Amino acid sequence: MQETRSRVLKNLVLQTVGLTRQYGAQFAVHQLNLHVERGKIYGLLGHNGTGKTTTLRMVTGLLQPTEGEIYLFGEKMTTPTKAVFGRIGTLIESPAFYENLTARENLKIIADLRGTKSKHSIEDSLKLVNLDQETKKRVRQFSLGMKQRLAIDMAMMHNPEFIILDEPTNGLDPMGIQQIRLLIQKLSAENGVTVLISSHILSEIEQMADPVGIIDKGILVEELTMEEIRHRNRHYVKLRVSDISQSIPLLEKQLGISDFEIVGEQEVKLFQLDGNLAEINRVLVTNGIGVSELSVKKANLE
Ligand SMILES: Nc1ncnc2c1ncn2[C@@H]1O[C@H](COP(=O)(O)OP(=O)(O)OP(=O)(O)O)[C@@H](O)[C@H]1O
Ligand SMILES: [Mg+2]
Repeated sequence: MQETRSRVLKNLVLQTVGLTRQYGAQFAVHQLNLHVERGKIYGLLGHNGTGKTTTLRMVTGLLQPTEGEIYLFGEKMTTPTKAVFGRIGTLIESPAFYENLTARENLKIIADLRGTKSKHSIEDSLKLVNLDQETKKRVRQFSLGMKQRLAIDMAMMHNPEFIILDEPTNGLDPMGIQQIRLLIQKLSAENGVTVLISSHILSEIEQMADPVGIIDKGILVEELTMEEIRHRNRHYVKLRVSDISQSIPLLEKQLGISDFEIVGEQEVKLFQLDGNLAEINRVLVTNGIGVSELSVKKANLE
């Protein structure tokens, strides 16, 4: 938490301060402080029912917060907040398609309805989501993955600077997930779009987003950059000893180990070890220290 607060955050497209939503006595979202910087793909990661959708609905004006503030493009949102939503594209609830029409016809209707002269033509936009070849197929004949790509395309029709997607890969197979991931990365890299995307799957978020906000039971546990996540997920050696204060000088001076973290009264994590564990054990034991565990571990964010 401390690290997040001290990190310098520039150019926030979205910030929430103490964002809270209560249903009766239950807090669906509790005191959430999100920070989404311009140009990033921000992953909101959390198990089912932890408040992702509730958060995104509040941010996009679909749901009134019980408490807290939302800043979009530096502007504090108060009701009504229509002006700013022209700069945002959203995919939150399952989108309504004209099922009997083609993707192209669906997009044409959206473009006309919004009255926006899109920078990209409908053709370009279909190409972007890899649906330009589907000239005949009606949406009702689309696979789930195709529908999701069309939905993202619809959210992009007015060239928003910021898109907010609630679990766009839900229900997709690995291939479908990959296509969505590539699409989002492309939007980010080529169009400079800022993305806020939620998911309950760590591996999926890991491959796409940076930073990641971890939400659990309505509370934002942490905001981490990918680098911090990788750092935490490093392999390490778990060492349990009878006496920590006597062990540390031995580790440092005799064994030359400098990258470690004291975890508890009897436990140390050793990182970046090439030396063998038997040697560590020997040095500690010959100096009268009891070693009750010495084993290689893989940290896990889950
Ligand atoms: N309209 C509502 N009335 C009462 N409780 C609600 C309502 N909407 C959401 N909740 C509760 O708020 C909590 C958070 O729900 P939310 O849908 O935001 O979670 P989520 O992280 O999006 O879950 P999932 O991964 O399943 O989509 C849940 O306990 C849910 O039951
Ligand atoms: Mg949800």
